[in-house]
Amino acid sequence: MQNFDYQTPTRLIFGKGVVEQLPEVMAQFGKRILLTYGGGSIKKIGLYQKVLELLKGFEIVELPGIQPNPKYDPSVLDGVRLCKEHKIDVILAVGGGSVLDCSKAIATGACYDGDPWDLISYKVKAQASIPIVDIITLAATGSEFDPGGVISRTETNDKIGYVDKLNYPRVSFLDPTYTFTVSKKQTAAGIADAMNHTMEQYFAEDTTLLNDGFCESMLRSLMVNGRKCLENPEDYTARAEMMLCCTYGCNRILSLGNSQSGWPCHGIEHALSAYYDITHGEGLAIITPRWMKHILSERTLPRFVKYGINVFSIDASLDKWEIARKAIDETYAFFESIGIPMHLREVGIDDSRLDEMAHHIAVNEGLESAYVPLDEKAIKEILVASL
Ligand code: NZQ
Ligand code: ZN
Repeated sequence: MQNFDYQTPTRLIFGKGVVEQLPEVMAQFGKRILLTYGGGSIKKIGLYQKVLELLKGFEIVELPGIQPNPKYDPSVLDGVRLCKEHKIDVILAVGGGSVLDCSKAIATGACYDGDPWDLISYKVKAQASIPIVDIITLAATGSEFDPGGVISRTETNDKIGYVDKLNYPRVSFLDPTYTFTVSKKQTAAGIADAMNHTMEQYFAEDTTLLNDGFCESMLRSLMVNGRKCLENPEDYTARAEMMLCCTYGCNRILSLGNSQSGWPCHGIEHALSAYYDITHGEGLAIITPRWMKHILSERTLPRFVKYGINVFSIDASLDKWEIARKAIDETYAFFESIGIPMHLREVGIDDSRLDEMAHHIAVNEGLESAYVPLDEKAIKEILVASL
């Protein structure tokens, strides 16, 4: 087992109606709030109105319109400017992972005098941040319990996972009822995203019985509860369990002591959504089974066998290679069964920029040190197989 140094400072407040506690929570951080949100879903579900009602005594400045795959320009830059102009004490992010990720970049950017991209691109280490509280309305990224924020810069096709301990939200409100309205497309993408977060930690060296069991249980729960959420979007129990699974996805709790895997599918997907602005979870679902096929070898076979038996209940008496291949087929079939388009062409990506993307990934994502190292040629092969 590898050494680790671990702390998650985020307070999770979970359950139906917990948002009633918002005023007392926000009061700990000050009076002036930057309220960040996306394209309007929080208005449709009545949450925007509820938040304003609860926070009547506070001074609220708004940053609306944060898009999926949140953009540095204008959203991060506008948020930083508003924080500085209004001397904001605390940011309240209400929405999906994109709103929260954008708020994380704003929080450190607002405490820095230079160009906030210096921080996101790791040129300069942030020294301070504005506290963040969030009400997450989409179960997927786990941003509510992790130190990452993924920011896109359109003109350079960059999509960077900006990770810093300062980015942990101070408090995350998780009320599963706010996810009842998430569309089938986004629910399926959320299932795929959280499943892939788990796989990125499961397919690694130095794993333990404890971590493997935790990951296998996550994967089974996401498949069972994810399906229930799709069949009945207002199934509270299923939405609640899916939400908690997603929350665990990126905060390292699934892989403490494991070797780092390099998160290869994320490295590849971030380029797809940077170049083509596709939905992150769909990109991952397309890449994952092709990546699995690519890395299956004598060395990785035992991992795939364990995965096949414990996650998909494949007959353990079968030949090991057969179990592994069936496990990969089952992975593909599950994503397809929840309605995810399983080819890049179906999400608008043809072969015209595959070379450019493979090069970009090879140069920027460090996948030469992944669980199974991937060079530019290997990345291109995975992309071609995904077309
Ligand atoms: O913009 P609005 O109107 O709010 O609509 C959103 C958006 O169109 C909608 N939505 C959110 N909550 C809803 C809802 N619609 C109906 N009812 C609700 N309750 O859903 C759409 C997608 O929202 P978005 O926030 O983009 O989705 P998600 O939470 O999946 O976030 C995706 C982003 O997170 C990054 C991805 O790369 C992508 O940019 N990631 C962040 C991670 C992290 N911070 O740890 C890890 C992930 O691996 C991922 O990379
Ligand atoms: Zn992800």
